[in-house]
Amino acid sequence: MSEPIYQTEALIAEDIDAYLAQHEHKTMLRFITCGSVDDGKSTLIGRLLYDSKMIFEDQLAALETDSKKVGTQGQEIDFALLVDGLAAEREQGITIDVAYRFFNTEKRKFIVADCPGHEQYTRNMVTGASTADLAVILIDARKGVLVQTRRHSYLCHLIGIRNLVLAVNKMDLVDYDPKVFDDIVADYAAFAKSIGIESFTAMPISGFKGDNITSPSANTPWYTGSTLVEHLETVEVLSSVDAGKPFRMPVQWVNRPNLDFRGFSGLIATGSLKPGDEIRVVPSGKTSKVTRVVTLGGDLDEAVAGQSVTLCLADEIDCSRGDVIAIADNPPQASDQFESTLVWLNDDAMHVGRAYWLKLGTQTVSATVQQPKYVVNVNTMEHLAAKTLDLNAIGVVEIATDRPIVFEAYADNRTLGGFILVDKITNATVAAGMLHFSLRRAQNVHWQPTDITRAEHARLKNQTPRVLWFTGLSGAGKSTIANEVEKRLNLMNRHTFLLDGDNVRHGLNKDLGFTEADRIENIRRVGEVAKLMADAGLIVLTAFISPFRAERDMVRQMIPAGEFVEIYVDTPLAVAEQRDVKGLYKKARAGELKNFTGIDSPYEPPEVPEICVNTAEMSAEEAADYIIQQLLPLK
Ligand code: ADX
Repeated sequence: MSEPIYQTEALIAEDIDAYLAQHEHKTMLRFITCGSVDDGKSTLIGRLLYDSKMIFEDQLAALETDSKKVGTQGQEIDFALLVDGLAAEREQGITIDVAYRFFNTEKRKFIVADCPGHEQYTRNMVTGASTADLAVILIDARKGVLVQTRRHSYLCHLIGIRNLVLAVNKMDLVDYDPKVFDDIVADYAAFAKSIGIESFTAMPISGFKGDNITSPSANTPWYTGSTLVEHLETVEVLSSVDAGKPFRMPVQWVNRPNLDFRGFSGLIATGSLKPGDEIRVVPSGKTSKVTRVVTLGGDLDEAVAGQSVTLCLADEIDCSRGDVIAIADNPPQASDQFESTLVWLNDDAMHVGRAYWLKLGTQTVSATVQQPKYVVNVNTMEHLAAKTLDLNAIGVVEIATDRPIVFEAYADNRTLGGFILVDKITNATVAAGMLHFSLRRAQNVHWQPTDITRAEHARLKNQTPRVLWFTGLSGAGKSTIANEVEKRLNLMNRHTFLLDGDNVRHGLNKDLGFTEADRIENIRRVGEVAKLMADAGLIVLTAFISPFRAERDMVRQMIPAGEFVEIYVDTPLAVAEQRDVKGLYKKARAGELKNFTGIDSPYEPPEVPEICVNTAEMSAEEAADYIIQQLLPLK
């Protein structure tokens, strides 16, 4: 409970150093409030700020009508304090509609994230919850457990918040009736058990009247538990739980201001470390000894979870951003295939097979997602089959990354188990994920090194491999021009191979149609084949509509820099439609052919193709000559 304010003033007057020291050593509790609309969240937060002297009476009254006003007089917290994997989306310029407020009592400092209750705010809720030690689930005593109560509790549980407070609010409006309270608690307990919540703390409160907020209420003599503030002041914070786990620090950057000082900086995710401790860098596996633990305030004898430090090591070992420094005898694993839970946060549904950026700790890799194993109906907790994840959907999905990442199960380590997926084109954060485990098949399938490398294949063919990727509408002239280019290369004694959409769809990809998902898979496979052929030393030409930028960019990433040449066959839709060589546009216009590119399925033109030809202005031969010119010299 807060001490009377005059004591604080006396301490400030007497001994400013003691006062500051006391504040400095206070632990910080981050919590979120959630519940449904109109359950009194703003009033409760206002009450907490008011009781801790952060706002004044008239402002408290104003809260009833306008929750936004709280922040103006209440002390706003620097967002930098909250930056973590999820909040990193802020760097990408996306507004998060979570209001963070700061207050403190004599015992602790607090940051509270206020998350709006509507379903469309799942993103905010996930963002707020990702750093929280505790969640206050508010219930309107008159309404009991609602759909949003269940949804938010489930999300909190999923995100790993183990301290849940069930605040049965507005008790004044039900005459402080213990039966109402008991019924709600029993109802919630049954639900909580069904989703695996092991425990929660229920309390009858009134944010408006102040019952059981900072002092025990005379109106609820039947309630003997602690007040909300007492509970918030004493509950164990995540960082002290994390401190007891094995040491892990994702490396943020490497310092080498001069040759005498080379250090690895980062925020300690879990555990503690002392000079002299043996560490291991993952994934490389190199080991060394810690010589110094440096902070802005000087060297430390011991550093713990939650501290930002720079580590100096006894040996010159390779270690860079994205690596994890761990205690030597208990390091985390690295893998490239996982099962994880995803909460989809974007209007644009998940695309199976599409490559997204996956950001986990300080690691960023390219990752593709599989069709969900199931999605969870948050109201009934049923597992349902689904082809994709739509906005706000929660599902279990297998994910493959293009190279191994260092991870731990989210349940053990939020930093090394929590990640976001980012759309490569729009840079939007599309999902929040929680890793469960790596898939065994990833552990058992290793890359088999071969002696005759790509370079040897290319040397024998006396050429630099290339992937000439033609893209454009159906009927633009991709196949015709690619064919002309291949003829010219052949005359120049180049070893080539042409992969054509219509042909590949008769064999390798005959199981695929023209839905968005099938086109993504079509291009993924063609990309893999083109890559293998380029590895064999060939100049590969591909002629596919390949309508999506994301997949073309994915293939670009697969091929060594400079070898991927995107060739945009730029033909206006009207021209392609007028040619209508295969009669398909006519069918599409007549509604006999669905998902036809340019008609009822999108085409995303390249933004900066290496080469662009306009077939409305050039013949196929002219276009081919122009392309060859652009490619020269071909060595
Ligand atoms: S892609 O979009 O997946 O890259 P791809 O290049 O393999 O397409 O195949 C396109 C060819 O399939 C077209 O040239 C056309 O002959 C034929 N086709 C059949 N149905 C469609 C459709 N709905 N949309 C586009 N092309 C179609």
